[in-house]
Amino acid sequence: MQIIRTIKDMQVLSRKLRAGHKTIGIVPTMGAFHEGHLSLIRSSKNENDITVVTIFVNPIQFGPSEDFSKYPRDIEGDLSKLSSLGPDIVFLPDDKEMYPNGFAAAVNIGSIGGILCGAARPGHFNGVATVVVKLFNIVMPDNGYFGQKDFQQTVILKKIVTDLDYNVNIIVCPTVREHDGLAMSSRNTYLDHEERKAAPILYKALKLGEEFILSNSEVDASYIKEQIKKYIISEPLANIDYIEIVSVTHLDKVVKIDFPVAICIAVKIGKTRLIDNIIVDRK
Ligand code: PAJ
Repeated sequence: MQIIRTIKDMQVLSRKLRAGHKTIGIVPTMGAFHEGHLSLIRSSKNENDITVVTIFVNPIQFGPSEDFSKYPRDIEGDLSKLSSLGPDIVFLPDDKEMYPNGFAAAVNIGSIGGILCGAARPGHFNGVATVVVKLFNIVMPDNGYFGQKDFQQTVILKKIVTDLDYNVNIIVCPTVREHDGLAMSSRNTYLDHEERKAAPILYKALKLGEEFILSNSEVDASYIKEQIKKYIISEPLANIDYIEIVSVTHLDKVVKIDFPVAICIAVKIGKTRLIDNIIVDRK
């Protein structure tokens, strides 16, 4: 496992690998690894000659009042988890390498970045898009691996690849969950004991929504959202940010169910904002 810290070294190596007709899979991450991250790395290893894992806590995707400085960082732990998995390359740039003085360009992904999570996090998805495009230009991958856990992120990245003609397949991997259904997330470490006990309400609410849709797909999306809402507010520690039912391709709000749909939710448990989603398709 080779650790590379500079853009130049990474580009030189990628060019060499591509000239040797090796396929490259990229797994972009912000570190603090859990099984969700590791599952993406395993998929990439299965499907590519070379797997590059990138670890970079991207400052420009955090808002001014968000958790950039306290975002969990554990490089030693991450590298030790990686060494047993064996990706070929870890790209580990620092902030100055990615955003040197005078850095000013940005990818603007338009209105799709202002809905769902983007409504509460202005600029977040432009920040994600900018760093992912940079990583694609640095690593020159054939395939990029992303988790369904961040569903809006995957839809936006697919759109960027199409809009900007990147030759990268965006591969979406299933959400990895704890035994009680809670989607794994680096932010779960913020939850105290009581909050952790309350947090599986997100997935339970999604399963309830799925059941409603599958048993009566004629029903209005607004009725299903109402049932999900009622269920979540029964948990005193939960505060709903949004509950939406959207198309899986463009994230358009659905009025009548038109399969497949995604139910997407963001809920604060105490001070921690958690997101989750489920894709519901005809049985
Ligand atoms: P991060 O939150 O570290 O997540 C890295 C990748 O792991 C993302 O594709 C995310 O969707 C995936 N992931 C997280 N939790 C998961 C789970 N429980 N199951 C499956 N996959 C999961 O997402 C980011 O970083 C950043 O926005 C990034 C794309 C790296 C750009 O900075």
